Amino acid sequence: MEASSPTPSAPFTPFSTVIRTASHAQHTEAENSSFMGDLLGGKLGVDAYRRYTEQLWFVYRTLEDASGALAGDPVAGPFIRPELARTAELERDLAHLGGPSWRAGLVPLPATAAYADRIAVCARDWPAGYVAHHYTRYLGDLSGGQIIRGTAEKTWGFARKGDGVRFYVFEEIANPAAFKREYRELLDALPVDDLEKQRVVDECKRAFALNSAVFRELGEQFPMSA
Ligand code: HEM
Repeated sequence: MEASSPTPSAPFTPFSTVIRTASHAQHTEAENSSFMGDLLGGKLGVDAYRRYTEQLWFVYRTLEDASGALAGDPVAGPFIRPELARTAELERDLAHLGGPSWRAGLVPLPATAAYADRIAVCARDWPAGYVAHHYTRYLGDLSGGQIIRGTAEKTWGFARKGDGVRFYVFEEIANPAAFKREYRELLDALPVDDLEKQRVVDECKRAFALNSAVFRELGEQFPMSA
């Protein structure tokens, strides 16, 4: 039997760092999309903010419709936390923005429908892919979402943390920094092999691309940047 010489082990990078680093360029792209820039630059009216919030409703409804079925799943289950749920908050915001019949005739933009379809497919067939979508939305909302809230309050005069911006307010998460730390620990402990982790990273990139496509279509509806 040959003695095997010890191979130097590759430096270990936690999965939460891998996924954040891998999606960094697309994050910058989404952040700098002309629709987001115009919206947060105060160049667009509240109708654009409403249209954007409507698209979020389609996305979160799909994410959260799957929560019950995935709650006991060994891969996706640990991520499903009731304090993250946003559908009820979005419905309150939309009732504020559009009145009691805000839902009448509401249809998603084609890019939003494609995004929601992809989430639904992952939720049904691929729990680890669902985690990629979960991460892309909720960790973002707990982070940059707070910047969007502040701007929306100032630009369109919503009450601080009130109707119109409830989507951005996580009432039941007292310490978002600690919550995000725990969330990253869950990512680091994701019970799948390296190949599957790479697929999750790819799905996260796809999730960012789907978000950018929604911004692009919203930008076409509300052209401003020139
Ligand atoms: C104008 C729009 C946006 C702003 C200002 C913004 C800002 C930020 C900031 C400041 C962070 C860092 C927080 C931290 O280090 O803890 C962050 C993290 C994040 N954002 Fe955004 N963001 C925006 C749009 C988006 C979009 C469209 C998505 C995807 C749908 C997104 C997804 C994420 C994710 C997943 C993280 C967590 C990264 C990690 O720590 O793993 N963001 N964002």
